[in-house]
This record gives sequence, C-alpha cells and structure tokens, in this order.
Amino acid sequence: MRTLKDLDARGKRVLVRVDYNVPLKDGVVGDETRIQESLPTLRHLLSQEASLVLLSHLGRPKGPDPKYSLAPVAEALGKYLPRVRFLPHSPGSEEALRAVEGLAPGEVALLENVRFEPGEEKDDPELASRYARLGEAFVLDAFGSAHRAHASVVGVARLLPAYAGFLLEKEVKALSRLLHAPERPYAVVLGGAKVSDKIGVMENLLPRIDRLLIGGAMAFTFLKALGKEVGKSLVEEDRLELARDLLRRAEELGVEVHLPLDVVAAERPEPGVETRIFPAEAIPIPYMGLDIGPKTQEAFAKALEGAKTVFWNGPMGVFEVPPFDEGTLAVGRAIAALEGAFTVVGGGDSVAAVNRLGLKDRLGHVSTGGGASLEYLEKGTLPGLEVLQ
Ligand code: 3PG
Repeated sequence: MRTLKDLDARGKRVLVRVDYNVPLKDGVVGDETRIQESLPTLRHLLSQEASLVLLSHLGRPKGPDPKYSLAPVAEALGKYLPRVRFLPHSPGSEEALRAVEGLAPGEVALLENVRFEPGEEKDDPELASRYARLGEAFVLDAFGSAHRAHASVVGVARLLPAYAGFLLEKEVKALSRLLHAPERPYAVVLGGAKVSDKIGVMENLLPRIDRLLIGGAMAFTFLKALGKEVGKSLVEEDRLELARDLLRRAEELGVEVHLPLDVVAAERPEPGVETRIFPAEAIPIPYMGLDIGPKTQEAFAKALEGAKTVFWNGPMGVFEVPPFDEGTLAVGRAIAALEGAFTVVGGGDSVAAVNRLGLKDRLGHVSTGGGASLEYLEKGTLPGLEVLQ
C-alpha cells in the first residue's frame, strides 16, 4: 500500500477523504473522536506546506439537505487547526473547484457533504473525475468508509496518485493482527441487534478463535434456536437455522460459546420502565430481554480471563436507554481490565461505552469504523484498500 511516506506534498494541493460522519446534537458535533483521529495526517501534510481539500460524508441524506451539512464539523475542526474554512459547495461543482484554486499553503478547506452528489454512492466516473480536479494527490484516511466503493473513496483514488493516511494505516495494522497469527487464547465478544449483520465475521473468525461471547438482542436468536423461552425478545425467525448451524460449527471447531445466563427485562425499551431479572432461558411474556443480567456480566468477565487477544463489537443491551446500558459498560470494564492482552474494540456503541468509562487508553486499539472493521475481519481487505495497492 502506498502511504504518506511515499508522498512529497510540499507546495501541493492535496485532496483528503476523511470520515467525519459524526453525531450532531442541536447543530454541534457530539463526539469529536473521528475529527481528532484525522489530525496526525492533516498536521503531517500541513507541516509540508501543502494546502488541503477535505471530503467527507455525513449521515445518509437523499440528496442536498441542510440537516446533513458539514458546516458544524468545520467549526469543530477549527478548534484543532488554525486555518480551516468551510466551503458550502457541492464537491463536484465548478464553484468548489474555483474556491479551492484560491487556497494558500497551510490552508484547509472542507467541502460540503459528498452524499449531496447523486453520483457519489454509485461511484459515478464522471463525478470522480470532477473530484480529481480538486487536488494533485489523494490521501484516503477515512477508514470508517473504506468498505464503501463510492466515488470519493475508490473512484477518485483511481485517477490521482493515491496514498493511505496515518489513521487508515493504524487501523489496518491493528485489525490485521486479529486475522494473522493472533496470540491465543483468542476471545471475540459480539452484540447488537442482528445475527444477520455478524454472520460474515463469525464465519471467518470461528476457525481462528477459542471463545465466543454473544450478547445483545442477537443472543435471543441463538437462545430460541436452542429451544429456550425468550418471551417477547427480538428474534430473527428467519435466522434460527443459521444460528443452529453456527453453534454446531463452533462445537466442531472446539470454540467455547457463551450465551447470556440471565437478562434484565421490561415490557418496553423505555427509560423509567419497571425492570425484572429473569433466567435467559425462561423469559415470560410480556417481557423482553433488554440487557445481559448480573450473572452474565460475571460469567462474561470470567470467560475473558486469561485471553491474550480480544475483539469486541456491538452492545450487550439497548445501550442508548439507561439502565439497559449496564451490561455493555460491564463488558467494557472487563476487557479494559485484562493484563497483557491485545484488545480491539469497534462499532459505535461499544466505542461509546469505552469512552464513557474513560478506558480508551487501556485498550490496544479503538477502531473508528464499525461496519468497516467488521467487513475487514470478514474479508481481510476493503475496496478502499485494494485501490491503494
Ligand atoms: C460509519 O459511520 O460507519 C461510516 O461513516 C460509514 O457510514 P455509512 O454506513 O452511512 O456508509
């Protein structure tokens, strides 16, 4: 992969694809992690007197929509870098080109959301060639978007000398350690709502790992597949056979599977609702399991003991609705407490849990990409990486 070491950016205008798909609250950036993680690349290029044109998406707008403007992101970036300008132009437009032509060395311009361009997600070659006019070299540092074969990720990389940024390199280095010669025992913790989102990663990781811990709503599909009573918990009925098959495969491969022993349940996932604790295999109607229970928290912490490699993706419960965030926080604490283990966390809620606990520094790597990290662990590559080879 060509990296920043191969790029002499002196005096050049460099186009950088970052992932500033950040949460906004009342028009202000709620979590600046992705902005902070892009700074090493931006500062390196600025130290070479380059001028920078930044491209990013935000959310999933269907065409131009002020709700998804990157203006608040430029505001946040301006706290870290001195000469940041927001250019409210569609990145493929003539106005955008004219505006970036006026950039001086050391200046940074963030253009408007690439998803306001109809050709972006289709990787339209005509749009990619309009992006390519914006810089003399292209740096891909948007690890969180590297699984998207979109015009601002892969299309433009085919048309300009293209390089991996420091964040992209750091992510790939950490995640590839999970695929190639990981130290054993190797434990994987998966959560979140759907088994269907995690099938690929489970299939690829099962032959490499020793322990699989499953929480979140996806655990109910496994519990039901084993014939347990899960009340009104979320179940993917059309994945029961697949869940049985994955459990069979895990057994054949000698992988220990840990499912919830107990759950925190309620009638609805709402704040302030009355909660009860039930054994995970006997949840009565009308209750639904909304988090792992205290016994499971303990059992999961025990199952992680002694692990030398750990990957965690996905919340153990309805993380955004307290008190159903406690199981996720407990797993975060248990992983951060492991001594001498290489620990990697990916995915929005798992990362938010670690940040809320202030335990980020106790982990080996916290990925800025949820979907991208899962796809990398499933396939060992991503469209955004292939195009840089
Ligand atoms: C993410 O937040 O996972 C990335 O920014 C990708 O966003 P997307 O799933 O909307 O492509």
